Amino acid sequence: MTNKFIHFIANWKMFGDINSINSLNKVIKFSNIHKKNKYRIIYCPPYTLLNLFSRKVKNTRIMLGAQNCHHEQNNSAFTGSISAKMIKKIGAKYVIVGHSEVRADGETDLIINKKIKTLINNGLNIILCVGETLSQRKKKQTYKILKNQISRALKGIKKKNNILIAYEPIWSIGTGIIPKIFDLDKDIKYLKNFLLKKIKIKKPKILYGGSVNDKNIIDLKKIDILDGFLIGGASHSPKKFIDIIKKTFI
Ligand code: 13P
Repeated sequence: MTNKFIHFIANWKMFGDINSINSLNKVIKFSNIHKKNKYRIIYCPPYTLLNLFSRKVKNTRIMLGAQNCHHEQNNSAFTGSISAKMIKKIGAKYVIVGHSEVRADGETDLIINKKIKTLINNGLNIILCVGETLSQRKKKQTYKILKNQISRALKGIKKKNNILIAYEPIWSIGTGIIPKIFDLDKDIKYLKNFLLKKIKIKKPKILYGGSVNDKNIIDLKKIDILDGFLIGGASHSPKKFIDIIKKTFI
């Protein structure tokens, strides 16, 4: 995992308040010292903190992302929603779409596809999450599920170079369980080949997400075709988050 940029994306979900800004101090300091390694740190706090975080990370190596957005254009009448343009204007560069928690709440492949189109039109980078349930895995449907999720999400989309694919097996999110390294390596290779050959992404980038922590990173980093990690719980603690980054490069 050396000669390319490794993404460390902190997905804070519904965590964080105004005091969380202090978390960033240590991470900013770390990134100022560790300039040599090739990595990208992207914080995706809840919407309520985007503005605050945006000001804090200005002129640092840390980038900002949103956890979701609405698929309709800016100024549409959708109570409670945020547009891609609003996210762009606040200074964020990335948006997560297709997270299993959002899919479980009703986000369909069609909506994901519309969101991606809107995000591309607004010049934002996309973190597209895909992943199977445990029962689908047991029935050996993983590849079929992943292929369907990706093909449907990217249907009709030509500009695919700013899309990161985050493989997040649902059974691994928040459970402390990660796939066996051998299996994960095989699955990531399969995905990369699929993205390259069938989806025609020239340089596909794949992240892994699901219970990544400062211990299992030692094993996960062995999968050298990975382009980074989407990290939930362990990213709340600046110490753990920094440890994950440090250990990736040891
Ligand atoms: P955890 O790291 O808490 O398992 O969450 C993973 C995730 O869903 C990131 O998007």
